[in-house]
Amino acid sequence: MAVLITGGAGYIGSHTCVELLNAGEEIVVLDNFCNASPVCCERVRALAGADFPVERCDIRDEKGLERVFSSYSIGSVIHFAGLKAVGESVRKPLEYYDNNIGGTVTLLRVMRKYGVKTIVFSSSATVYGSENEAPFREDMPTGSTTNPYGTTKAFIEQILKDLSVAEPDWHISLLRYFNPIGAHESGAIGEAPNGIPNNLMPYVAQVAVGKREKLKVFGNDYDTPDGTGVRDYIHVVDLAKGHLAALSRAEKTEGCEIFNLGTGRGVSVLELVRAFEAASGVKIPYEIAPRRAGDIAVCYADVEKARRVLGWTAQKDVTDACRDTWRWQKNNPNGFEP
Ligand code: NAD
Ligand code: UD1
Repeated sequence: MAVLITGGAGYIGSHTCVELLNAGEEIVVLDNFCNASPVCCERVRALAGADFPVERCDIRDEKGLERVFSSYSIGSVIHFAGLKAVGESVRKPLEYYDNNIGGTVTLLRVMRKYGVKTIVFSSSATVYGSENEAPFREDMPTGSTTNPYGTTKAFIEQILKDLSVAEPDWHISLLRYFNPIGAHESGAIGEAPNGIPNNLMPYVAQVAVGKREKLKVFGNDYDTPDGTGVRDYIHVVDLAKGHLAALSRAEKTEGCEIFNLGTGRGVSVLELVRAFEAASGVKIPYEIAPRRAGDIAVCYADVEKARRVLGWTAQKDVTDACRDTWRWQKNNPNGFEP
């Protein structure tokens, strides 16, 4: 039985494909390539030394999904496909609700029709909102999101929880990612944002490679040791491995379970900049800018549940992630474009 990977040509999906193939799993990638390149799938094949089908399909296309589910023997789904830019979601809420929520509902309907009831879903630490205090624990209240992107994650979590109540034979794992960074250590795959990066690590990497002049540090007056925002940066390969652990747990467990995937450690913006400078040997010019709307001061995970139930913990640190990002960025200054 194959694992269907929606959004498998994207950043986290592609790293997860490598780990699944390395573990001997059969996979089928489904992606509409709205934020990805087919070159990425070629690189995954080369890295893992294994072939797999890639289906160009939109998760909102019910007929297309039915064609995929009837063409392969699919046993479970890891569902990465979605739009993820916070600022864009504020400008285009309907597109986000349609793509992320509408797409997920369509996918779930088709899964049910084909008797596939195991799903691992990409949620986000953003569902903890601004009312909880770090470290964030899975049983804390959620839903006080500040933008449509975050709201799609909170809604989809609720939809999946409701589904598992109504139909207890589903096997559902909600994974709340903290801040994924880094790249495969080969430097062959990594994050390739379109246009100006919104997130810290890809922005720093583009400054390092000379594509951007300097970093703007959004606020140095937070209640944190150096005044800059603190986040839980998790290496994308550790995150990918977390999916294998979650899938194996979900296959054995009916109902809906929630897991944080983070390191449990908070790192400030300036600490991350220094770690990148040390790993790359390149100076990162920066200036202090006003706080970014919607940002919280401190966000890091309580990782005890993932350790205890999944037997998974992050193995890599920010230095590993900076080194791997730098290798990817240096070798591929234009991402997957020539
Ligand atoms: P990504 O944009 O690199 O990957 C998402 C993939 O989904 C892309 O390949 C895109 O082409 C595809 N896609 C989007 N809409 C689709 C649709 N309607 N039909 C088919 N394919 C579609 O993003 P990523 O960073 O790899 O994130 C993967 C998932 O993890 C997303 O759901 C994202 O919201 C979630 N997440 C990401 C982060 C992060 O910091 N990267 C943090 C928390 C959660
Ligand atoms: C952001 C999103 C979050 C999403 C996550 C992963 C917002 C408000 N939150 O989280 O919903 O799940 O990305 O996609 O956008 N920073 C700078 N300069 C920059 C960029 C960032 O100083 O150019 C700072 C931020 O203020 C923050 C830290 O770096 O303190 C990390 O920012 P970022 O990488 O954007 O992630 P989050 O804000 O945690």
